[in-house]
Amino acid sequence: MRVAKTDTQEEDASVRQATPLPAAPTCDPTYRYRTFDGTCNNLNSPRFGQAGTIFQRLMGPATYANDLSAIRLAKSGNPLPSTRLVSTTVTVNSSVFDYDAALITMQWGQFMDHDLTQTPQFTLTVGCCDGGRFGNVTANPNAECLHIPIPSDDPVYSNVNCMNMIRSTYGPRLDGTMPPRRQQINAITHWIDGSQIYGNDNSTAQTLRDKSSGKGLLAFSIQNGQILLPTSPSTCAECFMAGDNRVREQPLLTVMHTLWLREHNRVAKALYARFGSSRSDEFYYQEARRIVIAEFQHITYTEYLPVILGPEIPVPPFDTRSNPAIFNEFAAAAFRMGHSQLRSFIKLFEADGSASNQSFFLGNSFLTGAYRLLNPRFIDNALRGQLLIPAQSVDECFAPDVTSQLFRTTTALGADLVAINMQRGRDHGLPPYVRARQIAMEILQPYPPPPPPMTFDDLAPTHSPEVIFLSYPGRI
Ligand code: HEM
Repeated sequence: MRVAKTDTQEEDASVRQATPLPAAPTCDPTYRYRTFDGTCNNLNSPRFGQAGTIFQRLMGPATYANDLSAIRLAKSGNPLPSTRLVSTTVTVNSSVFDYDAALITMQWGQFMDHDLTQTPQFTLTVGCCDGGRFGNVTANPNAECLHIPIPSDDPVYSNVNCMNMIRSTYGPRLDGTMPPRRQQINAITHWIDGSQIYGNDNSTAQTLRDKSSGKGLLAFSIQNGQILLPTSPSTCAECFMAGDNRVREQPLLTVMHTLWLREHNRVAKALYARFGSSRSDEFYYQEARRIVIAEFQHITYTEYLPVILGPEIPVPPFDTRSNPAIFNEFAAAAFRMGHSQLRSFIKLFEADGSASNQSFFLGNSFLTGAYRLLNPRFIDNALRGQLLIPAQSVDECFAPDVTSQLFRTTTALGADLVAINMQRGRDHGLPPYVRARQIAMEILQPYPPPPPPMTFDDLAPTHSPEVIFLSYPGRI
């Protein structure tokens, strides 16, 4: 039996609270380096890009049922279908390789995203499902609960009808006034500024430094003869720390963080070799940081974006009046395209080109997989693997590792990232697909755009016959 319509949550103003604006910056116009929290990059508008400020919208105001915050309804007036049902109906578990993109392209995308966006959620004392991440819907759920209903005939989950999901926080405009509809917050700086390496605030940045040598180094640990990320004291050997707290989400991400820690220290030492002890630790740290951020931006614009968008995309010139805030549509939907590039089996290669027995399945390595980096051959083998094997194409195919095994443990079920992404889009009030597509056409095409699709068959020019077939009314 197919049930599972998403219930909209009743409005309850008493539990809904906007996050206040972070402290106003005081800028020093003569300061040569970027601040950690993204302020003072634009001296005319010092808050532009500040960590903890709201996203902006590309596609018009948020789409909420009550024009405030309630989840939009279907055209029929009924609640929208469960995003878990949409996910199991429309996504396909099969491999289609993108031979123009090595797997490291996927990894670059996630690493870059962790420089650009992190959307905080409300912290609730009681979750939305009675078993924690799964179970049955709790009695009187908090108004910020937006659990994902699980159909009773779900192909993976049985005896549970609730996947936990909590709504994103929201906040004021840069002038402190409240937008009429929810506008979600970016906890990190909106700039490409290496904040996932260095941190998004001064105190984190200082914690991540090793000032003992006077060479401006980032703190590191030495384990099994290799330089690794620093670890949080008194915890565990693989409890790595970095500028972004998602550093241990999966091992390839931790590898990328380690690479950039090593790059900072390489550059800092090279500068020290040139200028010696005549300069301060601060000088070497900031100059190396400046160079590393430039390297990171350069690779993003000249190598990553041409693979993702094609070589013809012009980069607009810097405009001091333009608000650099990340678009909500980018963070909550468009850039999550990288989830389709993931693959299930991560194949590693030894230096002699043979397959490594350190190869692993993504679904077995979430959150706890960073111990793999303690093996002295893992980082090199993982980098070889990411350069040698292709990413998956961006399409309707997703690895089961993210459609039912996300963050699973030996004792707990894993979640469905595709369902979460769609639910997050509803939480953020993103426009429905057909409207978003029409707005995108208008932005991209200077001449009258083609008429919007009125039936699923009208999607034929842009969608595979399989997806159109799977989406026919009655299936969802
Ligand atoms: C194994 C790799 C990855 C895992 C396990 C992963 C997992 C996740 C999870 C759990 C979220 C939060 C979902 C939510 O609650 O709304 C998320 C958000 C996101 N992911 Fe991924 N992801 C991966 C790779 C990627 C890649 C390759 C990209 C892009 C190229 C990407 C882009 C994003 C974006 C833009 C967000 C929104 C971030 C925010 O604003 O909070 N992810 N991802």
